Amino acid sequence: MNVKNRYLSFMLTLLTFLMIVSSCRTDENTQTQIDEFHLPIKIAKHQQYKNAAVSSAHHLASEVGVQVLKDGGNAIDAAIAVQFALAVTYPIAGNIGGGGFMVIRTEEGLYDALDFRETAPANANKDMYLDADKNVIPNLSLLGHLACGVPGVVDGMEKAFDKYSKLKNWSRLVEPSIELAQRGFYVTNKQASSLNKRRKEFKKVNDKPIAFVKGKAWKQGDILTQPDLAKTLEAIAKNGRAGFYEGEVANLLVEEMNQNGGIINLEDLKKYTSKWRAPVVSDYRGYTIISMPPPSSGGIALIQLLNSIEPYNIESMGFHSTEAIHLMVEAERRVYADRSKHLGDMDFYDVPIATLIDDDYNQMRMSNFDPSKASLSSEIEPSDIKESEETTHFSIVDQWGNAVSLTTTINTGYGSKVVVDGAGFLLNNEMDDFSAKPGVPNFFGLVGNEANAIAPGKRMLSSMSPTIVEKDGELKIVVGTPGGSTIITSVFQTIVNIIDFGMNANAATQSCRFHHQWLPDKIQIEERCLDENIIDTLEKMGHATVSRKSIGKVETIVVNDDGILDAAADRRNDDSVSGY
Ligand code: GLY
Repeated sequence: MNVKNRYLSFMLTLLTFLMIVSSCRTDENTQTQIDEFHLPIKIAKHQQYKNAAVSSAHHLASEVGVQVLKDGGNAIDAAIAVQFALAVTYPIAGNIGGGGFMVIRTEEGLYDALDFRETAPANANKDMYLDADKNVIPNLSLLGHLACGVPGVVDGMEKAFDKYSKLKNWSRLVEPSIELAQRGFYVTNKQASSLNKRRKEFKKVNDKPIAFVKGKAWKQGDILTQPDLAKTLEAIAKNGRAGFYEGEVANLLVEEMNQNGGIINLEDLKKYTSKWRAPVVSDYRGYTIISMPPPSSGGIALIQLLNSIEPYNIESMGFHSTEAIHLMVEAERRVYADRSKHLGDMDFYDVPIATLIDDDYNQMRMSNFDPSKASLSSEIEPSDIKESEETTHFSIVDQWGNAVSLTTTINTGYGSKVVVDGAGFLLNNEMDDFSAKPGVPNFFGLVGNEANAIAPGKRMLSSMSPTIVEKDGELKIVVGTPGGSTIITSVFQTIVNIIDFGMNANAATQSCRFHHQWLPDKIQIEERCLDENIIDTLEKMGHATVSRKSIGKVETIVVNDDGILDAAADRRNDDSVSGY
């Protein structure tokens, strides 16, 4: 090696060293985990960006979205790519075998909402989860093939692409996910333990080998590859919705159903269609709230909650004061009672939207609010509180000011646990979001009625609340979260934290949360969240309280007054922001 080559070789080594050091930099907002292969997994919880930002449940999905934005795609293009990337990197909730909702605000200030919620198969019926004595058969709507609704994601992504894509290159949006599924990605500590926890259920409903079960337990740094999923994504990249709802993938899905007592058939798949809906819109203290209409209860309930507390000066009560919590909980109690009765798929049931989001109606509902005393929910036996509430959310703002707030789900963690043999994707257990029997709580302890009874082709009621907030006609907040029934109250608290308590995106996202849903009649409070004195006072006022593990995983982007995008990803999991 001559002197010149030695010098070049030294410079190259130095450069590589500096790159590794800089990529491993840890600052206040960045946790860097080193896996056993010494490659950094970067998780950024809070960053500010000049142009565009993505906040999602997985750092690789956030990066896929940002790369699409840098290549000239808009927020909708990025959302499509992030949705597919999460189906690979975040299988607990990211998906192509489930559904979701997308709320859009364009750079021109137009609002839109896409409903790609699953539907009940044509052979579903009202009593399908009841035994001969009309009692609900435990777990039938949660685990295995009968729990699955007809998936909506791929149709939804194609509809969004057709209407809004700027890149106009569908396969470019799916390709990063194909690569992630083929090459594999590094499993985090939390992912390893969540996969290990479901091992028994995976084995119970899948008689063939699946990517999520291996010889020994998962550990951080293992690589999860999904070759069958890669093939399915290739079919989607090539043929769009037809690559999923028809042909080889559809045949595999229906074969999976036929072999195992499921009821989704080829006609269900062919007929599935996502729908553009008019978002629900309302004012809150001079801000405009834009959120998801039915079949989600989220937008209506969120607006009801904000309308209910608007006449009160919550700012002067103070953040997490007894007075503020009592007020918010009493609003939640009334709104969730309304939810159980009035909310369902409006293609099948007349939802009184205008009344429910009306200021006067909600203030009438609060007219018996007593600032010193808890009201009583009805006497129905409270159900157990569950700690696993999956679904996932991502928020995106692009360089032109288009915004997407998208929540997607296969319902509980890893959905029905059914992986379509040969196609490698997980199917949802969304049928549990219907009311299997009036008054009997579902997994989330939510009770429902006729409005949310099962019917062929009907969409099950959701709590997903992808939301966008404007101030003076300008984009201000993009927010949402997973968490089943707690979604609505988590989004509610995040918005109140920003608007009333003046918090930035990070403080509003990371602060601890509480939740009340009418039944069970208890305030659920994140552990180590509230001062013992506050809890004592609430109990003296007549509230029952219960401590629980984390509530929600909120992804928030706030547009600061100077136009800087303040992006935060929830500390409660591996969620990560990215942008430029
Ligand atoms: N699967 C939870 C929801 O849609 O609310």
